[in-house]
Amino acid sequence: MSRTIKLSDGKSIPAIGWGNGTGGLFGNHDPAITSGVQALKAGIYHIDTAEIYKTEQATYEALKQAGVKREDVWITTKNLSPDMEVVRSNVQERIKLLGSKPDLLLIHFPTVPQAGTTSQFWTILEDLVYDGTLEGVSLGVSNFRPQDLEAVLKVARIKPVVNQLEYHPYVLEHLQPVLDIGEKHNIITESYGLLTPILRHPTGGPLKPVLEKIAKRLSSETGKEVDTASVLTLWALQKNVIVVTSSRNPDNLKKISEIDSLPQLSKEELNEIEEAGRKVHFRHYKVHMSKDFPNPNLPEDI
Ligand SMILES: NC(=O)c1ccc[n+]([C@@H]2O[C@H](COP(=O)([O-])OP(=O)(O)OC[C@H]3O[C@@H](n4cnc5c(N)ncnc54)[C@H](OP(=O)(O)O)[C@@H]3O)[C@@H](O)[C@H]2O)c1
Repeated sequence: MSRTIKLSDGKSIPAIGWGNGTGGLFGNHDPAITSGVQALKAGIYHIDTAEIYKTEQATYEALKQAGVKREDVWITTKNLSPDMEVVRSNVQERIKLLGSKPDLLLIHFPTVPQAGTTSQFWTILEDLVYDGTLEGVSLGVSNFRPQDLEAVLKVARIKPVVNQLEYHPYVLEHLQPVLDIGEKHNIITESYGLLTPILRHPTGGPLKPVLEKIAKRLSSETGKEVDTASVLTLWALQKNVIVVTSSRNPDNLKKISEIDSLPQLSKEELNEIEEAGRKVHFRHYKVHMSKDFPNPNLPEDI
């Protein structure tokens, strides 16, 4: 997997990341090491971890056990400390557990800074970059709504390079104002929960036949079995979105690592996915985004 996406601070991030905050990995040191080693051995050199997952040390261990050099892997972590007084020591704790500075540090939720302090919180993170603590580390946000992004952009000396969001075709209508701000300020979207329409929607909805048709086309063209998860991943990548997914299944890890070898989706196919997606609003991770940012008036299924 060699595809990268350019960030506004000039760095290139591997376009597909493997997260250790999914299912049985969340909060579980040992499986996060074992599965992390598998992901690295499959050639996925981008790991997404977080304070809340309690898998930062497992990320370090996975690199060590896989025999992969730190400088060859992109590591993202996310902090949770709401207290501005302890942001510095919280960040130092992240670095200690990871065994090195992360490549990218995200504010995990807009609720991490206490109400009304998002701008000041961002300023402290910037200060940590300027005083050397986070020198060389990219800064970003996660689950930020329009109002949260505006609070940061109002004061930013360093703009967030990414906003990590539940992102897939069934949340596009809701996310549009967030995506518009991102486009204006070159904040790249990082998708998590991308496979929600396939794995978590009760019927698959109107996207199902569209994804199946495209998967069939790609399978017959390549002579390999291309699944609908790979189609959704290609869709996101072609929209210049970083995909943070996960797997503990060697077959799925192989598919993720081989995405680069698949043909592109056509413009018509991209449009078909988007049109079907915008007919429905369905979110899996419900708590983060809808407060003071109303959902669109769309059904969950048709
Ligand atoms: N910032 C945030 O608030 C936030 C929230 C949630 C997640 N995240 C991050 O994003 C990562 C991924 O999140 P997610 O779990 O929601 O992502 P996802 O990509 O929607 O789902 C991952 C799941 O898909 C399955 N899968 C992978 N390839 C597949 C395929 N080809 N066919 C069928 N199933 C397949 C995997 O199961 P198998 O093991 O069976 O392959 C895995 O459990 C997390 O680990 C975490 O790092 C961040």
